[in-house]
Amino acid sequence: MVWNKSLLVVSVLLASISCKQKDQKAVPLDQEYESEYYTEAYRPQFHFTPEANWMNDPNGMVYHKGVYHLFYQYYPEDIIWGPMHWGHAISTDLVSWNHKPIALYPDDLGYIFSGSAVLDGDNTSGFGTMENPPLVAIYTYHDIEGEKAGQNDFQTQGIAYSLDNGDSWTKYDGNPVIGNDGVRDFRDPKVIWHRPSKSWILTLVAGDHAEFYRSTNLKNWAKVGSFGKEKGAHGGVWECPDLFPLNVNEDGEEKWVLLISINPGAPNGGSGTQYFVGDFDGNTFTTDQSDTKWIDWGTDNYAGVTFSNAPDDERIFIGWMSNWAYARDTPTERWRSAMTVPRKLTLRKMGADIELFNYPVDNLNAIVVEGDKSQIQIAAGTKENIDFEDLSQAEIKFVTTTKDFTLDIRNDLDEALTLTMNGSKQLFQLDRAGSGKTDFSATFANSVHQMPIPILPDGEYEVRILIDWSSIEIFINGGQYVMTDLVFPNADFNQLMIENTSNDPMELKDFRVARINGTWHK
Ligand code: FRU
Repeated sequence: MVWNKSLLVVSVLLASISCKQKDQKAVPLDQEYESEYYTEAYRPQFHFTPEANWMNDPNGMVYHKGVYHLFYQYYPEDIIWGPMHWGHAISTDLVSWNHKPIALYPDDLGYIFSGSAVLDGDNTSGFGTMENPPLVAIYTYHDIEGEKAGQNDFQTQGIAYSLDNGDSWTKYDGNPVIGNDGVRDFRDPKVIWHRPSKSWILTLVAGDHAEFYRSTNLKNWAKVGSFGKEKGAHGGVWECPDLFPLNVNEDGEEKWVLLISINPGAPNGGSGTQYFVGDFDGNTFTTDQSDTKWIDWGTDNYAGVTFSNAPDDERIFIGWMSNWAYARDTPTERWRSAMTVPRKLTLRKMGADIELFNYPVDNLNAIVVEGDKSQIQIAAGTKENIDFEDLSQAEIKFVTTTKDFTLDIRNDLDEALTLTMNGSKQLFQLDRAGSGKTDFSATFANSVHQMPIPILPDGEYEVRILIDWSSIEIFINGGQYVMTDLVFPNADFNQLMIENTSNDPMELKDFRVARINGTWHK
């Protein structure tokens, strides 16, 4: 039967019941409840989704005391976008998540739009003590009345703090901390601690560029630089910036990365995230990059940013798996939208270029059901068919040197996702046009997504694919080329076909198709 994930008894490890909570069900540690949540059609089983209602961007991602905090744009009353709150979830391994009560509610200054959170370890803000330093959230206020009245200054920046590990938040009474001089799109502050200048640096977007602000206490901010009017893609408004340093090839020279989401204007339509590699001198970002680079060529990875304070200075990225072109129309009922799997970002020197790779965090391997790895050989011009009943919740992984092949993920209704690697054209393509429900949006239905692959290694490279009921994430060569797409089939995927379209035998080394365990039901 299709979608027959059974009703399970769920033991939910939530800290306590909060009376304020009207969104996610909070259950005491020692109780179990029977829930049919996380069993619905299209519900991802190993990706983060809210129990019910609308979610968009990841916000305020911060690691503190062994816990990864994920906040997110949330509307608790409906499955379409509305007055924005910050939902909250926690994880110790980035794989299983526990829901927490809503962290931030709209107030007189406006809805709570996207932003970031930091651990103010030296209590520079004075909100806590040296013994109990505060978590500080920095976010955009969106004054809906001001917008309706035709003003241009309806977005300002505010802060709030928590002294109990993110469980409860107090808004600063001096908000807003950054006012608005009449810039319509002025939002999404991302704060980092800048070691060389011993100050906080806040990056936000102002329409068609990013701006940088400095502070020593997270309350008083001075503008110190701006970037981007003449650089990168400008097919739409800039959103959700993230600025951070990374060492090239893990231990080489330090470079700075600036992520900028843009909507519309992505290479395959609608929303997407570009990145710049360059330098940051404490005031402004510069780059000699002339091409536009994308973190993901699929249509469904947007507004992604990285955790603050992650162990070992790692940069762990999570994106919102949707696209503003059709986010409000996707065919799910009780909840809408999921996050990408958490991905580690690295900078690699590729010829004369430096590229940003993104690849699932290692912890994810713990839920991949170990199966046998095998060697497969497919003769030129022939196909290999593999039946695998759990293909809707699975990993496909292999290493090959062949640069011309087609991979088909199919169900009994003959609905298919078709992936094509075309070495001579230096192009990878994903076709979801015949993959199931597509007609809820013209943009979604018109769905052949292309990704240039100009510099694949001459030798072996890895292909890794994660499928989770309504999404596919494709990582080629360790995350050099990435595509994330939503998909809504009318039956479970259960057949994999690989066709060798090259003129030579295709070797698939370490080939495996494995089930990935769900993380919501015990
Ligand atoms: C990005 C975005 C942000 C904004 C938020 C509102 O998806 O448009 O720029 O802060 O969503 O929900």
